[in-house]
Order: sequence, then structure tokens, then C-alpha cells
Amino acid sequence: MPLNRTNRVTGLLLDLPDDGRALHERLTAAIRSAILAGRLAPGDALPPSRALAEELSCSRWVVNEAYVQLVAEGHLTARQGSGTRVAPDVSTRPAVPPVVLPVQAPAPVVVDLRPGAPDVARFPAAAWSRAMHHVLMAGEGSDVFPSAEGVLRLRKVISGYLGRTRGVTVSPDEVVITCGTTHAVGLLAGVLARRSASRLAVEDPGWSRLGDAAAYAGLAIEPVAVDGEGLDVGRLKRMGVDAVLCSPAHQFPTGAALSAGRRRTLLAWAAERSAVVLEDDYDAEFRYDRKPIGALAALDRDNVAYLGSASKTLHPGLRMGWMVPPARLRAPVIKALEESGAGPGVFDQLALAQLIGTGDYDKHLRRARTLYRERREAVLAALYGHAVIRDAGPVEGIAAGLHLVLSLPPGHDDRDVADRLERRGVAVMPLSRYTHRRLRPALVIGYGRLSPARAPFAAAEIAAVLESGTPPASAGVRRIG
Ligand SMILES: Cc1ncc(COP(=O)(O)O)c(C=O)c1O
Repeated sequence: MPLNRTNRVTGLLLDLPDDGRALHERLTAAIRSAILAGRLAPGDALPPSRALAEELSCSRWVVNEAYVQLVAEGHLTARQGSGTRVAPDVSTRPAVPPVVLPVQAPAPVVVDLRPGAPDVARFPAAAWSRAMHHVLMAGEGSDVFPSAEGVLRLRKVISGYLGRTRGVTVSPDEVVITCGTTHAVGLLAGVLARRSASRLAVEDPGWSRLGDAAAYAGLAIEPVAVDGEGLDVGRLKRMGVDAVLCSPAHQFPTGAALSAGRRRTLLAWAAERSAVVLEDDYDAEFRYDRKPIGALAALDRDNVAYLGSASKTLHPGLRMGWMVPPARLRAPVIKALEESGAGPGVFDQLALAQLIGTGDYDKHLRRARTLYRERREAVLAALYGHAVIRDAGPVEGIAAGLHLVLSLPPGHDDRDVADRLERRGVAVMPLSRYTHRRLRPALVIGYGRLSPARAPFAAAEIAAVLESGTPPASAGVRRIG
């Protein structure tokens, strides 16, 4: 049988066209062209001659002959102990020419104050590896395909956690494991769109990625204003939407908590219309000096879809979250998970269950709360040390979470201030990036990754930029709170 291809041993496809030449010559030519085309790179190891000969069903002499020839040409090197390799200085033509992008190197970020992420350097690596080690050694992941709603052990642990910390009393059967809140919003939006919902209200200002996920799933996104009491529920009632996405315990980014009156009105509105409230409980774990605010889902399990995430408490890269959809949406949500094949890996789910079950998660949260509280104190002290910042008004949204809102003196353009700070190596987000409205100029500052030692530098840079800029004239800006 003429042999003209191989790739089983090396994973590299070698073409050996049957052109009448001897096999060792064809093999020499095939390896040479793989090197010249850049498919074998300098330093790459060639398979041992015995293995390649076995695969080609030929004698080792054929392979050795090809290797000796290529060494003589300078394409390969053969050294005792390191086998046969592509020569380090061989000149190759890359298979794909490199793309040269005309980029101007951005200024390096010295201090990253963009909100959205915790300090991932504080990920409880030792506890996580203990949990994962336990899972792997106990052979717990023997369910080859986990159920779409998530591993039962994790759902049990999450149902306990939600009851204990958020007042949401649910059975494990009501919990669905997700790849985080963005995933959950996309899933729910898709389910609602298929049930002929068309419009979703979202908070303005708000975390736009969630609205984007809902829009991608087919819903029209309608911003609804936020003020010092949270979502403007009166306005929402007049909008005639099918669902609303909100962060009642700690509005992003203003930090407002939805007032008791508005919580009642919101739930009455949802019940009346059978509308769904998607409750983004994204950083409930971090409360400093205000009473913990229970979840809306604790008051209404019929119309509230509760959404939780490990992105702030552990690591956004874990892609792990949980939701408690209203009973009427549970089966369609699970079907959507089944059909899309999406969901966190079974080992990660079991490791999270183990982490929570052993108490290591609570221990980590206690440490993280202390850490972030210290960072908040440090950044506040540093900011208030500058008259230009103090005079602009109180820093807002500081009672909870990992970020705050810093008002700028009237007339400043927050995007311009953010751009100027970025050129000095300080990355912040302008409030205007989170809104369709014209709000007062402000910066949203994430302090989760800011070590107290760096806070004075960050504050001094902000103050210097504000002092150096002559603000353009402003007109008609609104306060958010
Ligand atoms: C307001 C808000 N909601 C939700 C999330 C979490 O999203 P996910 O769980 O998809 O990472 C974040 C993360 O930064 C957020 O800032």
C-alpha cells in the first residue's frame, strides 16, 4: 500500500507523495518542506527514529537516512541526550506571515482603578487547590456529563449559603449553576424572548455588559434612570416593559440601595404584570458600615430571578455563578442550558462546593472584607486630603462593594479627565461611560486592587489633573443621588 501521509506520532502532517522516489528521499523532502514552511519551528523535537519507522511501517534505516541527510544540510541537529531537533538557526518561512499592527503603545497602567474586578492576587489559591485536590482524589467527578442545572452537591451548598447570607430560602432543586451573571442574564433573556417578551428595562447608569448579553439574546434594552433611592420605579411602571434588570442591594455604579418603598412598588408591579425582575446581587458579600440588605428574591420567589456570582468574591476568570429563576422559568432555563451545552466544568463546581462546605469560603470572605475595608479607608483618606476633591462634594457609594463614585468639580468632562489620568498611568472609568443620560461629571474608582501604600499617589495624580485642567463651561447636568 503506498504510504503518503502520516501524523499519528508527531501530530504534524507530513506529505509523502508517491512520486517514484525512494521512501527515505520522500521523507527527507517532507520534513524539509515542513521546516521551510514554518510548520516545524527551530528547536522542535523530531520523533525518535524507532517510533516514526513504526508508524511508516518501514525500517529504522529509512528514517535515520532522512535525519542524517537533514543534519548534513543544517536543517536538523542531532545531539546525544536531546534527540533530533530542528536546528535553532534554521531560516524558515512562517506558515502565516506575521500581522503588523500600526499600534501606538499605550501608556503603561501604573495604578488600575477601573471597577469590576476584585484583587485576584488574593484568590485563596491554597484553599482552592486543597478543595480541588480533594475532589480529584475522591473521584467525585465520575458523572461524565453533569446535569445541565449543575452538580447537585454545589446546588445544595448554594441553597444553604443563600438562606444563611441573603435570606433566600430555596431548595437545591431551585438553584441553577451558571457561568456567572452575564451568562445567567443571556439565558434568561433568551428564554423570555422565546416566550414573546420583547423589552427589558436596565438601570441607567449601569453595568452595560449585562444589557448587551440580553440584547444579544433578543430583547430590546430600555434604560431607566437611577437616583439616590435606586431604580426609578415610578418611571419603570410607565414604560410597559416585560422585565427589568437591577442591582437593588448595591446599584452599580452609584452604590444606591433600593429604598424600602420602591422595593414594595417594584414587587407589586412585577406581580401585577407577571413581569420578571432580574436581581443582580453582584457584590452582596462586601458590606462595611450599613446594615446588610436582604435580597428581593427573599420577598418574592414568583417573579424575581436571583443572580449571584463568584466573580467578585473569588475570581472573574472562574466563570462561576448561580441563579434561582422563578418556578415558571426553571424548565426553559435548564432546556436552554442543555441545548447550548454551556455551563461550568464539573471539577470546578465540585471544588467550589468543597470550598464552601469546609468553611474556607467564609474564611476567605472575612479576610477579603477586612482587606477591602482597609483599602476603602486608605483611598478615602487620600482623596479627602486634596481640597480640589473635597470641595467637589462627598464621595459616594462607599458603604459597600469595591468601588466609589468621585464627583468632579462642575464643568470638567469626565472622559477628558480619565484620558489625562490614563496618560499618567492611572486608569479610572468616567461615569459617563455607564450612562445614556447627561449626568454630573464623576469618576468611578475601583479600589479593590489598590494597595493602601499606593492610594496617596493615585489621589495626588487625580488632584493634579483636576487642578491643571481648565474645565470647559457646562450646562444642565443632573445629579444621580
Ligand atoms: C454590576 C455587575 N454585575 C455583575 C457582575 C458579574 O458578572 P459575571 O458574573 O458575569 O462575571 C459584575 C462584574 O464585574 C458587575 O460589575
